[in-house]
Amino acid sequence: MGTIMGMGSSHWPAMIQPDEAKPWPFLRTLANDPRVPAELKNPLNWPAGVRAEWGQDEGVSAHREHRRRLVEAFRRLRAEIQAFDPDFILMFGDDQYENFTEDIIPPFCVMAYPDLTSHPFKGGRRGRSNVWNEPEDHAIKMRSKPDVAKWLAHRYLEEGVDMAYAYRPLHWEGLGHAFVNIQMYLDYDRQGFDVPIIPVQVNSYGSKIIGNRRAINGAGQEPDPISPTPRRCFEIGRITARILAASPWRVVMYASGGWSHGFLVEKHHYLWPDVESDRLRAQQIRDGREAEWQELTVAQIEDAGQQELMTWICVAGAMHELRQKGDVIDYVETAGVFNSGKCLAVWRT
Ligand SMILES: [Fe+2]
Repeated sequence: MGTIMGMGSSHWPAMIQPDEAKPWPFLRTLANDPRVPAELKNPLNWPAGVRAEWGQDEGVSAHREHRRRLVEAFRRLRAEIQAFDPDFILMFGDDQYENFTEDIIPPFCVMAYPDLTSHPFKGGRRGRSNVWNEPEDHAIKMRSKPDVAKWLAHRYLEEGVDMAYAYRPLHWEGLGHAFVNIQMYLDYDRQGFDVPIIPVQVNSYGSKIIGNRRAINGAGQEPDPISPTPRRCFEIGRITARILAASPWRVVMYASGGWSHGFLVEKHHYLWPDVESDRLRAQQIRDGREAEWQELTVAQIEDAGQQELMTWICVAGAMHELRQKGDVIDYVETAGVFNSGKCLAVWRT
């Protein structure tokens, strides 16, 4: 009889760099996205909350507190994982034009990889500095469970889920940001973390996956076909729970995804996240109403810039199936300077 713990978190990339590196996702949109109206390039025209975060130092001070809360919440997630002592983490994460590009975009893909080494700082991919002062060739190892991953793909297909699978990476050396960032953040204090991981890609970005080229280059692009629907993500979660519950393993089912992303919110000129929608999502977890997420449409998700919530909907489906209640460890908002709403939650057994 398997035992499953649910978990979810943001993978906010700016936790890698020191605060002094400034909130680069926001600054990048501001500097480069032609859809940002000229008057909004001037901080004097921003909403009060955004100006407060920006402060006198372009967000450096405010990010200190933002990071403090996130690091603390990740420490708590780590402690939960250690206490639960899983056989592996089944990690649902988005791929942002990293491993999957023009030649194939699977809706879902079980990565039945052998043990895999990532070099997250190689080639300056994540900025020039990192808070750990690790060298550019620093290696992050993932222990895997390729046999279990293969079995899981087999079981999905038996259960009527047309699941894609892969035995090796396609276009990205190592793991993409949604997975390797979590490896780094669950070990923010660098004490070591080697719980095996089976990554599962979810095409969260859907209509923007190719056009956006990772973030903001979607201006003027034709939309791509949509992501899997929330209803399907929820069903996949329910099926996953049934498969794992009949297995011999202890599993953490992990959703890696930030919530509303400013750079995805058209109605906010690609600058500010949809905080109202994020607040509602956090409340739905607290109230045990995450099953309502299956009723969302892709259009609603896209309107709110909550594309990465798709990974959370998979976990929510599983937790609904298992009748496990969620606990919001922390929900960290930003008015805009730190791009995304960030929730960290656990559904204990
Ligand atoms: Fe992401």
